Amino acid sequence: MRVLSGIQPTGRFHWGNYFGAIRQYISLQDEADEAFYFLANLHALTTVRDRETLWENTLEAARELLALGLDPEKATLFAQSDVPEVSELCWLLMTGTPMGLLERCHAYKDKKAKGLNADAGLFTYPVLMAADILAYDSDTVPVGEDQTQHIEVCRDLAGSFNHTFGETFVMPKAKVLESAASVPGVDGEKMSKSYGNTLEVFEEPAVLKKKIMRIVTDSRPMEEPKDPETDHLYQLYRLLATEPQREEMAALYRRGGFGYGEVKKALAALAADYFTEARRRKEKLDADPEYVRQVLADGAKKARIKAAEVLLRAQRACGVKG
Ligand code: ADP
Ligand code: TRP
Repeated sequence: MRVLSGIQPTGRFHWGNYFGAIRQYISLQDEADEAFYFLANLHALTTVRDRETLWENTLEAARELLALGLDPEKATLFAQSDVPEVSELCWLLMTGTPMGLLERCHAYKDKKAKGLNADAGLFTYPVLMAADILAYDSDTVPVGEDQTQHIEVCRDLAGSFNHTFGETFVMPKAKVLESAASVPGVDGEKMSKSYGNTLEVFEEPAVLKKKIMRIVTDSRPMEEPKDPETDHLYQLYRLLATEPQREEMAALYRRGGFGYGEVKKALAALAADYFTEARRRKEKLDADPEYVRQVLADGAKKARIKAAEVLLRAQRACGVKG
């Protein structure tokens, strides 16, 4: 299994990113024959339009992934823009991409539907993503539910290139993450940066506690038994709790006679402990920018070797190289 995934460096990672995506990337590094993970800074450039922010976010994303357990000995970590071969491959794919296919893609479609101006970068976003995937002969792409449409586009483009020019690309498959799209935010809606309802993985424990204590709950009386499965506070609690803790809390919900304040306190206590180890590693990484730079440089070097091989194969197949 050759695993690849990208994650946009658009700010500090939140629990949705961790439990919905990053946790699975990290566990796949042990199962895969090879794993490539990159910081999709070229994709982020379609939304982040400030030099310092983009660069700082990219380094922060690298530090957070490493602190959360991504192991550069097992997985290759790099910045997307450090592999220019991918952008070249993107052009080769672009020449065979039907406009209609991209018009149907949701990132562009949603923006247009809202009457916002979309640029060519956003429109062709899925083609760059296809190049990202195909450049490493990846067969398995772990992604959240929201990215499956893009993987279908990638499969379409690879299929039609192979059909026109002969077998060139490995056909990838999406591996949809179990808990994708299921982490609620502090307001009960899906946790997302764009809704401003996030709990950050590396938030200061005191700040995190304040945010947790402000989680929106309903106003049912304390005595009333409640269904834990439909309660977003419980959904957050269960992410961090052990099995016995989960069962105990679920039983408390079903029995009734408790206040949401107690659950919030219990959640804040779990949250303070859950990422302690990662926080400790993060502090070390914050103090060692040279190490992080070296990890990204080594990762890019390795990634470029593979991407150059695939690019050459594609260039020869379509006749831009003899
Ligand atoms: P945001 O919505 O905050 O902008 P992104 O779209 O950058 O988050 O998320 C990157 C990946 O993290 C997504 O593809 C998805 O796999 C995962 N993810 C984000 N939010 C959640 C969530 N609330 N629940 C589960 N997974 C999520
Ligand atoms: N578009 C993905 C996201 O927003 C990030 C991404 C870019 C990606 N290239 C990729 C994911 C290739 C998987 C494979 O989450």
